[in-house]
Amino acid sequence: MTSYLNYFGFGGDKASSGKAVDGLPAKQSPVRALPATWYTSPEMYEFERRAIFTRRWLFMTHSSRIKNAGDFLRFNIAGYDVIINRDRAGNVNAFHNVCRHRAYPVVEKKEGNAKIFACRYHGWSYGLNGKLAKAPGYQDLEGYEKEQNSLFSIHVKVDINGFIWINMDAKETPEVPWEEHFDNVDKQERYSEFHFDNYELDHTYEIEGDFNWKILADNFNECYHCPTTHPDIPDFINLETFDSDLKDGHIQHHCISTPEQAAKGLGVASTYYFPNTSMTVSPHFIMVQKFLPSSPLKSTMSYEIYRNRHSSEEDFHLISSIT
Ligand code: FES
Ligand SMILES: [Fe+2]
Repeated sequence: MTSYLNYFGFGGDKASSGKAVDGLPAKQSPVRALPATWYTSPEMYEFERRAIFTRRWLFMTHSSRIKNAGDFLRFNIAGYDVIINRDRAGNVNAFHNVCRHRAYPVVEKKEGNAKIFACRYHGWSYGLNGKLAKAPGYQDLEGYEKEQNSLFSIHVKVDINGFIWINMDAKETPEVPWEEHFDNVDKQERYSEFHFDNYELDHTYEIEGDFNWKILADNFNECYHCPTTHPDIPDFINLETFDSDLKDGHIQHHCISTPEQAAKGLGVASTYYFPNTSMTVSPHFIMVQKFLPSSPLKSTMSYEIYRNRHSSEEDFHLISSIT
């Protein structure tokens, strides 16, 4: 039972501080996976959509990807079609990509720049702030209230480093405050050596597969498999010093680089943001990895690779050339 409680963060201080829990130090207790059916059951997946993906704050991307008014990105998270955009006032917004007329998506591309969100089905259009601009034929109808037909908005937070988080809780104020799970996660001491303004998106890629999203989360958060699955890892990560700290809704993975690794800029600061995203920051690149479920048994691993504009071509490719 202890391992389940730890998994959900109910282990309390004892679990995260490594003190004794049920007679065993938390970090040495034999943690096992969740019950097998939780990785396959449609009911569990629906429950997670309601209780996790539309309640928790989700780490999405960096605001430098939508620099200009009208820039937008589209994501699909557990079946929720989401737009993140920048409006004319410079605000970052997020909306459900669902026309208020008959639910056609108002954005059909994965990214781009739009002066207005125009639905191609019957021609309703919305401003970049989500407000309904035109609804041909409806505008003069009695009892029709334009103000009541904005795009459904999604809560947004831009953290101190410029990363965008969303929360799909339909309430005016999300039930779970960002601070409850992520307080100061953007001000980690190990980030002090990085200037997030120096990084720009280099490329994105996706890998789809027949697996439950929690398999990916489990795998990312254990390095038990590292020596066997990634025999090249000791070249750039000092596994002897690998450690993980669970705090609120995130897990910080630590490694102390050897002097040679540090000199090559191979040190990485990796954080898992429950439920489904990790970020790995290094002097030459940042990797954001999202696990996006589309069904109980299908997920997409979605990657964004940012490059430090001051890094040489060789330094930027160093880790991928080692592995
Ligand atoms: S569904 Fe968008 S205008 Fe009809
Ligand atoms: Fe791995």
